[in-house]
Amino acid sequence: MASLPQAGVRRGRFITLEGIDGAGKSTHLGFIRDWLRAHDIDAVFTREPGGTPLGEKIRELFLAADTRVSLEAETLLAFAARQQHIAEVIEPALAAGRYLVSDRFTDSTYAFQGGGRGVDPARIAALEAWVQRGLQPDLTLLFDLPLEVAAGRMAGSRTLDRFEQEAADFHQRVRAAYLERAAGHPRFVVLDASRSIAEIQVDIAAQLQRLLERA
Ligand code: TMP
Repeated sequence: MASLPQAGVRRGRFITLEGIDGAGKSTHLGFIRDWLRAHDIDAVFTREPGGTPLGEKIRELFLAADTRVSLEAETLLAFAARQQHIAEVIEPALAAGRYLVSDRFTDSTYAFQGGGRGVDPARIAALEAWVQRGLQPDLTLLFDLPLEVAAGRMAGSRTLDRFEQEAADFHQRVRAAYLERAAGHPRFVVLDASRSIAEIQVDIAAQLQRLLERA
């Protein structure tokens, strides 16, 4: 059960980071952490799939290169981890007035399972409605860049997981699905992630400042 808002406490803000594999989210997470700390903002950092003991176990199965899983089961696993994450981590943090920054959320399911694998977005929307009960991020930063740049950044870095091993056309569909979602939802800010880290971080800081000032 989602926790009830605590009396007299202003609800926190929910920020999500999205992008194709190799978009550089992890680098920017560190910057966001430092920025919020410098502004005295109490924030929780978490990720999907994951963020809870159950979610982290699901993540292991989800990413393991040797997991055989149907596209329906893959979608349900993402939402099983998400439901636990919302109940155990996200809702309590927001109700307590904290900021919560999640490395990926439901837009990843629309992009990877929907765009990448071809799951009907209407099915994803039905699970989203059931599991989230109206919960949506306040701000979604989409780190967008051409596939070739992302692939170049990942090359030789470590063992590739089940998604990173997919062919280029899979990642091309993921990117296209993200951009389509961004066009339809004003909470998205699309950041050109092929630029220098410093340039991207100027934009991130501006977006965080805007969120902070929003009534
Ligand atoms: P990452 O968190 O290290 O970026 O890796 C998570 C991987 O899981 C990434 O390839 C995207 C994928 N994923 C999905 O396919 N569906 C989802 O709903 C989520 C949250 C992640």
